Amino acid sequence: MLLTTAIDYTNGSPHIGHAYEKVLTDVLARYQRLRGKPVYFLTGVDQHGQKVEQTAAKEGVSPEEYVEKVTARFTALWDKIGIEYDGWAATTDPRHMRCVQDILTELKEKGQLYKKAYNGHYSVRQEQFLTDRDRDEHGNFGAEWGEVVEIQEENWYFKLSDHTAWLQDFLEKNDVIQPHFRKAELINALTRNAGIDLCISRPKDRLRWGIEIPFDTDYVTYVWFDALINYVSFAGYGGKESSLPDFASTWNNTVHVIGKDIMVPAHGIYWYCMLHAMGLTDEQMPTLLVHGWWNIRGEKMSKSLGNIVDPSELADSFGVDALRYYLARDITTGKDSDFDVERLVMLYNTELANELGNLCNRALNMSQRFTAGVLHCYFPLEEEDLGLEHSLVESINLYREAMDHYDVSKGLEAINRHVVNCNVYAERMKPWEMNKDPEKKQRVATVLYHLAESVAHCAVMLSPILPAAAAKLAGQLNMPDLLELKLDDLAWGMLANDHTILKPEPVFPRIVIPAAKDS
Ligand code: MSP
Repeated sequence: MLLTTAIDYTNGSPHIGHAYEKVLTDVLARYQRLRGKPVYFLTGVDQHGQKVEQTAAKEGVSPEEYVEKVTARFTALWDKIGIEYDGWAATTDPRHMRCVQDILTELKEKGQLYKKAYNGHYSVRQEQFLTDRDRDEHGNFGAEWGEVVEIQEENWYFKLSDHTAWLQDFLEKNDVIQPHFRKAELINALTRNAGIDLCISRPKDRLRWGIEIPFDTDYVTYVWFDALINYVSFAGYGGKESSLPDFASTWNNTVHVIGKDIMVPAHGIYWYCMLHAMGLTDEQMPTLLVHGWWNIRGEKMSKSLGNIVDPSELADSFGVDALRYYLARDITTGKDSDFDVERLVMLYNTELANELGNLCNRALNMSQRFTAGVLHCYFPLEEEDLGLEHSLVESINLYREAMDHYDVSKGLEAINRHVVNCNVYAERMKPWEMNKDPEKKQRVATVLYHLAESVAHCAVMLSPILPAAAAKLAGQLNMPDLLELKLDDLAWGMLANDHTILKPEPVFPRIVIPAAKDS
């Protein structure tokens, strides 16, 4: 399976939206592996374009130097927050540039590209030509387009219109848009776009920082024919680069994780049509997993509003676990969410420090204190024990169902449900009271065994979201191979009788926010 994210523009610093997309994809990649599927996780940076060229000029450096500096901010953040990708797509990589040029040449030979003169309005900010449909109700181009200039120039076009009828039919017959509610939006947009071809070039006198059109060297190719191709170029398309993976085995069950802003028209229309023109079959078409946006108090994050949230600072202040947990937990895949640092702290403290932390403490600490760290399950079991085993089976099923449908927040809810049941069970059984009665030593061991067995299962389910914390739990349980298990291997009784655990350490220390001083 190939899992990709959108490649991030290198014209600023990574923000919480970028971090969310990486965490989501990292979680899904790790989950697919937990399901026993081989995964190739590709991500990277989109380094060409006018904005980069302009910012570099403003800073008095070359575009090469500028993108190198900005790219380093992204890679440092991904390392810091545990994003484990297999392939790195940087669009200035010569292997990518060669692949883009080969595809352009091939499409030209197939009659899919043509050159024509265009006279019209152009948005400098959005780097695109505008049509009358982009005017507002007063007939003006709105502020979102920034400076709009009139230009006349010849450019290269891709015959998008050759493929839109196929795409409409393909989308209607296949479930490639996730979540489903986005499909209608895409089909509507497609109807509006029918008959329009896609401009794919810029003359070099206006933009130099791009990939040269191989058959017309006064031009570079413009954003989407460079950026979108990263998904195939770094998956080994064309088979010319020995340092890249084998395309035939990598490009299967492909899922592109993208934000809602780049479904229409880029991925949902241009990309499918480009792949179709390149000769990919319907079976080879990717799925688009379209996620929503993180806003700030209902507003878009933007430099001008000064409300950009820096994920690196959050990781420093609250820890990587708290950040990853929050980004996975407080948004439903596909919907928008409001970023709120108080909720980050609250969710971590409630669900991890209190609930799961409490369970780990009871299972591991009490085992150390009451049974010298030796776990043993004695029969016959009581109804409560069987109830807890049943709760775990249900939670695993709910988790699998949610995660198979990319619903990570619901997957976490499924884990929490069992954790809460474990704590209720512990409260009812009161092993700390029972331990005072020498007759009840076996019951104490059996209750603690049930709690420890639950921790082991929860660690496995939690591992895609919090891999480092899951590894710590596996270590304390003295089960070094625990995280090698696949989801379908999970079954009650993973802990052998008389298994000895190691010294427990708190895995989810509470976040304490210093109280604000009264004024
Ligand atoms: N470079 C293009 C994508 C090319 S893919 C062939 C681009 N880059 S971006 O840096 O602007 O955005 C990268 C990803 O981050 C996109 O999927 C975008 O939707 C996502 N997000 C940007 N802001 C976001 C939020 N506030 N919240 C969630 N995701 C957001 O688009």
